[in-house]
Amino acid sequence: MERIVCLAIGYLFGLFQTAYIYGKMKGIDIRQHGSGNAGTTNTLRVLGTKAGLIVFAGDVVKCIFAVAICTLLFEKSHPDMVYLLKIYAAAGAILGHNFPFYLNFKGGKGIAATAGLILSFHPTFLPVGVIMFFGAFLLTHYVSLGSLLVYAAFIIQIVVSGQLGLFGGMTQAELIEMYGIALFLTIMAYYKHWENIKRLIKGEERKTYLFKK
Ligand code: G3P
Repeated sequence: MERIVCLAIGYLFGLFQTAYIYGKMKGIDIRQHGSGNAGTTNTLRVLGTKAGLIVFAGDVVKCIFAVAICTLLFEKSHPDMVYLLKIYAAAGAILGHNFPFYLNFKGGKGIAATAGLILSFHPTFLPVGVIMFFGAFLLTHYVSLGSLLVYAAFIIQIVVSGQLGLFGGMTQAELIEMYGIALFLTIMAYYKHWENIKRLIKGEERKTYLFKK
C-alpha cells in the first residue's frame, strides 16, 4: 500500500510541468518549439539561460518534495524500506513529468526530475551523477549524452551500492524490486531519448551552450 501511496504522491508532484507553465507565461507552448521537449534543455534553447535554470530548478524541486514527503510519511513505520519508497516516489514524479495526463501524456524526458532523485536518494549518488553529466556535457555540449550516461551510471551504482549494503536493512527481495524500478527508469529514459540517440549516432544531435556563443 505504501508503495502505491508514494507512486501516487510522486505522480501528482510530477504533473507540475515547469517548462510548459513557464512557456505559457511567455506566450508559447514549449512543445511546439525547438526539439518539442517540455524540459530544461529545450527551454534553455528556446527561451534562454535564465528560463532554462528556472525550469531546471522547478523540475528538480518537485521530485525532491515528493521524495521528502514520502520519507517523512514512512520512515518511522518502515525504516528498512526508506530507499525503496524513495525510488517509488521519484519514479512517480518522473512518470508524472514524462506523461502528464492533462497534456495528452506529452511531457518531458525526466532528466531534471532524475537529478532530484539523485540529490535526495543516497549521498554517494550525487558526485557520480555530476561527474557523468558534466564530463559528457562540457566535453561535447550534448545534453542528451550526459543524460544517458547519468542513467547508465545510476543503474550500475544502485546495484553495486545495494549489494554492498549501503541501503540499510532491506531484504534481498526489496533490493531486487528497487533494481527493477531503476532498470525501468533507465529503459524509459533511453526510450524517451530514442530520437536523440539516433541523432548522436549520425553526428546530427543539437549542441547546447549554457550561454549564447
Ligand atoms: O533532458 C533532455 C535532454 O537530454 C535532451 O533534450 O531537448 O535536446 O531533446 P532535447
